[in-house]
This record gives sequence, C-alpha cells and structure tokens, in this order.
Amino acid sequence: MLKVARRAAIPPFIAMQVLRAANARAQAGEAVFHLELGQPDTSAPAAVIEAAKRALDSNRLGYTEALGIPPLRQAIAAHYRSTYGLEIVPDRIAITTGSSGGFMLGFLAAFEPGDRVALAAPGYPAYRNILLALDLKPVDLPVGPETRFHPTPAMLDALPAPLEGLIVASPANPTGSMLTPDELAELAAYCRRKGIRLVSDEIYHGIVYEGIAASAAGLDDSAIVINSFSKYFSMTGWRLGWMVLPEDLHDSIERLGQNLFISPPTLPQLAALAVFDCKAELDANVARYRRNRDLLLRELPKAGFRQFAPPEGAFYLYADIGNLTNDSEAFCRRMLQETGVALTPGTDFDSARGHRSLRISFAGSTEDMAEAARRLIRWRA
Ligand SMILES: Cc1ncc(COP(=O)(O)O)c(C=O)c1O
Repeated sequence: MLKVARRAAIPPFIAMQVLRAANARAQAGEAVFHLELGQPDTSAPAAVIEAAKRALDSNRLGYTEALGIPPLRQAIAAHYRSTYGLEIVPDRIAITTGSSGGFMLGFLAAFEPGDRVALAAPGYPAYRNILLALDLKPVDLPVGPETRFHPTPAMLDALPAPLEGLIVASPANPTGSMLTPDELAELAAYCRRKGIRLVSDEIYHGIVYEGIAASAAGLDDSAIVINSFSKYFSMTGWRLGWMVLPEDLHDSIERLGQNLFISPPTLPQLAALAVFDCKAELDANVARYRRNRDLLLRELPKAGFRQFAPPEGAFYLYADIGNLTNDSEAFCRRMLQETGVALTPGTDFDSARGHRSLRISFAGSTEDMAEAARRLIRWRA
C-alpha cells in the first residue's frame, strides 16, 4: 500500500455536501432555496465584465509579478486611503488567488510546523483545515453570546500554553458579528505585547449593517491583513484577493508566491481595476442584504428560530436551535427534503457545539428569502 499523507485527511466542507444534495433535488425538478451558500448571487459589476472583455481582446494574459500588477496594488492602496484613512504603500499590498491563497502564503511565511494558532469556534472551517494541512496546531477558542462570538484577551490569557498566532474575523463567518474598533485594537495590542502574530480576515468589510469595521492595517504593522474581491466586490469565482504584508514577511511571501502560484490570475487582476468605481452597484447589493436580513429576523421567529448571534455584518444569521433539535445535520437534511430550503448545519463551524446551531445565508434574492421563510413557518406550524 502506498502512503497517503495524514494531512490529506482534513474534514470535508459540510456546506458543499448540502449543496450537492440541494442540486440533486433541483435536478429532480423540485424547488430549492439556497440559503446554504456563502456567496453573493450577483455577478461582478458590469464595468468589471466590460474591463475583462477589453483585456481579453487586447492583452496576451501572460504571468504577472508574483505580488500582482502595480496598478491594482496602487488601486488597493487608494482604497485604504478612502475607506479607512490609512496610508499603505502599494509595495505592502500582495494580490493573491482569493483570500484562500493569502491564508496559505501568510501561514507558510509566519509559522513553523507545530506552532499554535488560536481561532474562534464557531468560525470559518477552512482556517483550521489549512492550518492542519500545513502541520500547524489550531487552538479552538469556544466563543458565545457573552463576548458576541469573538475572542478576548482574557480567553487568550487562560490558555495553558503560549500561542504563535491568532486569527480574527470581523464581520465573522458564520455569525456576522463584529469586533468594535476598540476590541480589535485591544487584541492587536495584546498580540504585540505577547509576540503573537495577528491574522485579520477582513473579507466581509463593506457588508456592514451596524458599527464600524476597523482594519488591523491601521493598528499593527506586523499583522497579516487578508481581504478578497469575493464578497462585497461580488467577484467570487474570479479567485482574487489581497493581503497587506508586514515588512518582515514581505520578501518570503513574494518568494513563496513565485514558487507556489507564479502569479495571481491575470484576467481577474485587469478586470478588478474597474471595481473600485462600482460603489453604487455594490452598495445596492448591500442594501438588498440588509432587507433580507431584516425580513428573516422578522419572520424566522415564527418558525421557532429565535436566538441569533448579533447579525452586524456579512450575510449570515447563526441561529441557536437547541430548542428544536440536538442534531443539526439531521435537522438540515430533513428540512431540505421536506421544504426545499437548504441551510448549513453548525457542525461545519463548530465541531463541539454546532449540533445545536445552523447558519442561514441571506445573500440571495429577497423573493427567495420570503418564500424560504414562508415554507419554514408552514413546516414548523
Ligand atoms: C471568513 C471567510 N474567509 C475567507 C473565505 C475565502 O474566500 P475567497 O478565497 O473566495 O477569498 C471565505 C469564504 O467563504 C470566508 O467566509
């Protein structure tokens, strides 16, 4: 028998399994309401698509520099100036293959095998799976309503062994809850004091309903800041993201990028140059997400879904369904079969406690949200 690496045995993404079951149902001609998918149902803005068509006609689409094309790095630096009032030199911006590529580059550059990296549970499952695949040790921080589902310095102090890294996300997936600018600053200061590398996932910035999303780029020059064109910018399948690099990791991330990816994809980079002028179109998407969120918060309690994490940003509601079931995976399977509404069980985000929670994504159309809510209310009547 040939050897298969232990690290290849990372758990599957349950949301994708739900998607497969939902697609099978749709193929059988039955109605399906996709509230399981964490992606906008809109295409890229019209100007981005036009820019891509022009690039296809005029550019031979060879490799780019490993850290990305200079005009896009400059456009992202300008975005930090206009959005956060921060001056970031374009040389500190690295374009990546989605934020997913950024995590891999950042973790490889900052951590050694066996290093301990803490992260909130519930949290985005790929963080821990990428850490595991790189032989790093994820350290779960069980979070709940007491701290609005975010880690605190007190939680880090209570850990039995020191950390090398901490991942935070605000707004977070699956909860949608946000760290206040003060809370993020406190965590950044804690990390600096203790020699812990802060990794800040800012992929849901721009999709904010309450409060202010501060960037760790303004708090700590040694933090790895990760962002993406996949969510607010509605360019999910274009596979483009970016990082703000700490100076001490700049050269190693450039060399890792050269060797692992050669360069980020060229066509999306050229197209993304147009996206920073599309604010009106993108903000209209956010206005729809807000309407969807408000509709679900009004209607879902009628179906028994009553307890949600603070839905301050992103496009998710994370519901405690301990009053309805103790097996969220079976509950979601039955819900899909009996109503056509697809949701993601909490076990995707929190293996210890997710059996009593689920995630509802409201990135789809308002009509779909309304019909899904009607079906769930009928189902639970
Ligand atoms: C919190 C979070 N970070 C990162 C990602 C990865 O996104 P991408 O690689 O498309 O930038 C996702 C995708 O759902 C996410 O929810």
